[in-house]
Amino acid sequence: MSILSSLEGVSSTVFSNIFIHLPTPEGNLTGQTIIVSGSNQGLGLEACRHLLRLGVKKLIMAVRDINKGETARKELLQCACREEFSIEVWKLDMDQYTSVKDFASRAESLPRLDAVLANAGLMTNTFNVSEENEKTITVNVVSTFLLIALLIPKLRESALKFNILPRVTIPNSALHYIAPLNELQPKKGGIFDSLNNKETANMTARYPLSKLLVLFGVRALAARLAQNEGPLVVINTPNPGFCKSQLARETDNIGFRVGEKLLARSTEEGSRALVHGILADEKSSGQYLTNCQVHSPSCMVTDMKGVMVQNAFFGELVAKLEHIVPGVTAGL
Ligand SMILES: NC(=O)c1ccc[n+]([C@@H]2O[C@H](COP(=O)([O-])OP(=O)(O)OC[C@H]3O[C@@H](n4cnc5c(N)ncnc54)[C@H](OP(=O)(O)O)[C@@H]3O)[C@@H](O)[C@H]2O)c1
Repeated sequence: MSILSSLEGVSSTVFSNIFIHLPTPEGNLTGQTIIVSGSNQGLGLEACRHLLRLGVKKLIMAVRDINKGETARKELLQCACREEFSIEVWKLDMDQYTSVKDFASRAESLPRLDAVLANAGLMTNTFNVSEENEKTITVNVVSTFLLIALLIPKLRESALKFNILPRVTIPNSALHYIAPLNELQPKKGGIFDSLNNKETANMTARYPLSKLLVLFGVRALAARLAQNEGPLVVINTPNPGFCKSQLARETDNIGFRVGEKLLARSTEEGSRALVHGILADEKSSGQYLTNCQVHSPSCMVTDMKGVMVQNAFFGELVAKLEHIVPGVTAGL
């Protein structure tokens, strides 16, 4: 983390949250099928509300707790005055690769898939392991890219059948500006291994680091998708700003609560940025978006060192995904 990068991240968040009101998403999603993960609450749930308002035909709410998902579904159906069949709740636990694989297999049966909002995410100060990584890395990074890699064939098939531009959106955060890049220096054993060291893990910075990794992954994956001979799949990573939600449920100090009261956007307003990502065209691919516009990420991402870390990280990510599902990255 450089001081300049941190200052830029903090000042841009304060400025945006105070002075910029995100535009209400406009567009036509009639006939489309869209998956939203982590959609039982928070930004994901509010994004679903917008997607229904814009006419999405089939909304798949991907949640780890079916009961919570069903409660949210009922509320959405009522508010949007939609038919029962327009929303389905499917199980997806990003802590377990088998759940991600089962979810993606089920999605193969969909007649079409237009977009994926890979919104499920977690922030924790406690070091726990799920699958073979620290939990934040499993949920926010590895399972997120695994899910996307597994769904890309369906998105491409839909592009060919229905002449659409499929899109994938992963929420990002201005906290990536303060991520400790030095934790990602390729070392013996690799980046993922060093992030698994409980003794050296800086858990207060783990969430920002996970969003920095998402940025690297989105940039690298977009470059690969652009070179593929198949139909283009757009992938972007919008920052919704600092929003009042359950994300920081473990952070209950007075300073945070005051900051939240003074600065935080509502989840509804923040969700506009995510829906904007879903509506964006190919110019957004590989891009970080802020205030519903393409924006340069931290210089840590774009400078020479950032490019080197991105290449090393993406190489390791591809190897990891291949280990989980052999062949999954072949068509990327
Ligand atoms: N709030 C902000 O200020 C902010 C700013 C920038 C980016 N974001 C990003 O926006 C996204 C949504 O966050 P939010 O603010 O709406 O937080 P939230 O209210 O905590 O919602 C997170 C959602 O992710 C789900 N989730 C967590 N772990 C999961 C797992 N292992 N498997 C499946 N689902 C899981 C949660 O399910 P449960 O209800 O079952 O826990 C919940 O539905 C996240 O990616 C976050 O990083 C948020």
